[in-house]
Amino acid sequence: MKIAILPGDGIGPEIMNEAVRVLNALGENFEMEWADVGGVGYANHGHPLPESTLKLAQEADAVLFGAVGDFKYDTLERALRPEQAILGLRKNLKLFANLRPAILYPELAGASTLKPEIVSGLNLLIVRELTGDIYFGQPRGRRAAPDGAFKGAVEGFDTMRYSEPEIRRIAHVGFQTAMKRGKKLTSVDKANVLETSQLWRETVIDVAKEYPEVKLDHMYVDNAAMQLVRAPKDLDVVLTGNIFGDILSDAAAMLTGSIGMLASASLDESGKGLYEPSHGSAPDIAGKGIANPLAQILSAAMMLRYSFNMNEQADRIESAIKKVLASGLRTGDIYEPGCQRVGTKEMGDAVVAAL
Ligand code: IPM
Ligand code: MG
Repeated sequence: MKIAILPGDGIGPEIMNEAVRVLNALGENFEMEWADVGGVGYANHGHPLPESTLKLAQEADAVLFGAVGDFKYDTLERALRPEQAILGLRKNLKLFANLRPAILYPELAGASTLKPEIVSGLNLLIVRELTGDIYFGQPRGRRAAPDGAFKGAVEGFDTMRYSEPEIRRIAHVGFQTAMKRGKKLTSVDKANVLETSQLWRETVIDVAKEYPEVKLDHMYVDNAAMQLVRAPKDLDVVLTGNIFGDILSDAAAMLTGSIGMLASASLDESGKGLYEPSHGSAPDIAGKGIANPLAQILSAAMMLRYSFNMNEQADRIESAIKKVLASGLRTGDIYEPGCQRVGTKEMGDAVVAAL
């Protein structure tokens, strides 16, 4: 089992260290190879996704990814920005299915900004399409506006597009995931306004015929944003496109008290995956040793479950984390009075000890 370890920027390297220690503590035979990605890829190799890194990611059985991005690269042209690394990996490895669970650990109910009764017991999963939509749609760019009231003025433009097979493929992932959970699927679109979304909705309804046991409903994305903060427990599996999934998954993450707790998997057709925390590189706290490593550690657990079929080991990691939380250890992002505040390394130590 070869794992490409791509820590990236900001807090990425710190939290990755802890995840690797946890993996090593399992006593399995993982082969791990590290490579630069993101801003550090640009700094060391002139590109956020160096060719050698892409090659490693392609060869490996799974990719464990940290986070990319740093203020210092904000002025780079878009093609060289750190974010291009993760977008390039998704596209090149054809990782079209992004699974983002939002689970509230009972111990952290007080860390949510929502009332405990709204969020306690929350366990929802966003299935986000990851290689299409306005993120990758061509044409895009800048030009003189060809028409309209501002004809001739500089305009930026992007293209939202989804083909039918592309929608079908992610819809199957959504329904299959729903079959393994509560058999309830909410498809989110903006079919009242967008052509892309109309095709999305029709296609999802068609795919639904193959999954008669799954209860399907549809929501416009603005309403979904509202329902997420109003009654998030009414949602189970949420199926949506790339841009809506980007936005909703941050909101869903925060319901759980901290985006520092959430892992994600990005899978290709054959189940090969890239696993990364749902949070970003948090450059403002990088190097301080205070970042929460749990999302990275949970991403490693997700990797064991989805790519290596090592459910028992994944369970062990997840139980170790529950134990550590129950013992009152908290990093700053999930800290509450009465708990013990610890740093990145102490949190990693505690998980290893609990294992
Ligand atoms: C995410 C991130 C990325 C995205 C960025 C870093 C390109 O926000 O994984 O949600 O927009 O997909
Ligand atoms: Mg995002």
